[in-house]
Amino acid sequence: MTPSLGLYLHWPYCARICPYCDFNVYKSRASHDDLVDAILADMGHWRELTGKRPLASIHFGGGTPSLLKPAQLEHLIARAEDLWGLEAGIEIGLEANPDDQAAFAGLAAAGANRLSLGVQSFDDAALKALGRAHDGDGARAAIKAAQAAFPRVSFDMIYALEGQGLDDWRGELSEAIDYGTEHLSLYQLTIEPGTAFAKRVERGALIPPGEDLAADLYALTQELCAKAGLEAYEISNHARGVSAQSVHNRLYWTGGDWIGVGPGAHGRLGSASGGGRLATEARARPEAYRAGVTETGRGHGAPEILSADAEAAERILMGLRITDGLDRAALRAATGRDIDIGAAERYARQGLLTLTPDRVALTPEARVYGDRMANELVPD
Ligand SMILES: C[S@@+](CC[C@H](N)C(=O)[O-])C[C@H]1O[C@@H](n2cnc3c(N)ncnc32)[C@H](O)[C@@H]1O
Ligand code: SF4
Repeated sequence: MTPSLGLYLHWPYCARICPYCDFNVYKSRASHDDLVDAILADMGHWRELTGKRPLASIHFGGGTPSLLKPAQLEHLIARAEDLWGLEAGIEIGLEANPDDQAAFAGLAAAGANRLSLGVQSFDDAALKALGRAHDGDGARAAIKAAQAAFPRVSFDMIYALEGQGLDDWRGELSEAIDYGTEHLSLYQLTIEPGTAFAKRVERGALIPPGEDLAADLYALTQELCAKAGLEAYEISNHARGVSAQSVHNRLYWTGGDWIGVGPGAHGRLGSASGGGRLATEARARPEAYRAGVTETGRGHGAPEILSADAEAAERILMGLRITDGLDRAALRAATGRDIDIGAAERYARQGLLTLTPDRVALTPEARVYGDRMANELVPD
């Protein structure tokens, strides 16, 4: 069976750069029509690679794609429709910064049908510490504006902030849940190497919570969301039922195919059993990306063909992130490989995994250590 096809479009610009963020981002609020033109051309190149297959999802990620003008967004969606066609009920998601709330209605009218909003916190002091431009009331107003404009709304919160205790996070998360959105992404703060936060940690100016408190915060997150009917379907993602899950993210977690356009975007296409899985990475700097498209017709360098082992490792690491786990049958069909069954049986005996011939999934207690365990299930 041909897997679903998605389109990821990276918009790398942000009005300001947050001190914790290590995404491929550049400070600018300008409209950058020249970058939109390069992305449109890169999409034409990708159409040759994929052939005509309808898209199940389009995701505008960033950076801050809510800085796109509605006319730019409309043009990009229309080009995707011309090149590939859109599946009925396609998810067209857009990441947004609360500062852009005045633009939400226009972005929805341009064709986006799901907004994921970077709220992060409702606490003025916490938002300031995170280097955000909005305050708690700005976050609240942005959620209301998103709910008025979009049929599907999710928002992101970050926890395990410096000085945050269990009661602080209980208050924040309860307020988040009370908005009744169909989806929440709840991320534990990660200190990413090379960021301003990492430098502060190195010199002792920032002390994030220790592992025990972080694990308690994670457990509290699971408890409050479960009570509210926001089922955990991935380590950091919660949805009100299957139809509220992110179609686009599921595609990453289940070994789907996706086109990656825009500076720094990754793409994946095909499988070892289907003649090879193509892995692409677009040039990171916007100027280099544009120059690449002008000179070679495409935004990425030479594509890599993943070995069956590398493809299997990616599928295992991604598949174990979701609650329903990794489809071992699909893994075998795509790569001819399986998980390290010795390690899996050992974890299953410890109650950390559920294991059947066709599936393997982390138990809720194990999910907080998910990445470490997933690495051990990758065969040598
Ligand atoms: C690429 S951002 C897009 C949203 C938009 N740019 C914004 O910040 O409002 C996606 C999300 O990643 C999360 N994120 C980014 N860096 C993080 C970090 N170091 N630790 C935890 N979450 C992070 C934030 O919740 C953010 O909303
Ligand atoms: S967190 Fe969002 S707004 Fe801040 S730098 Fe990263 S992508 Fe840009």
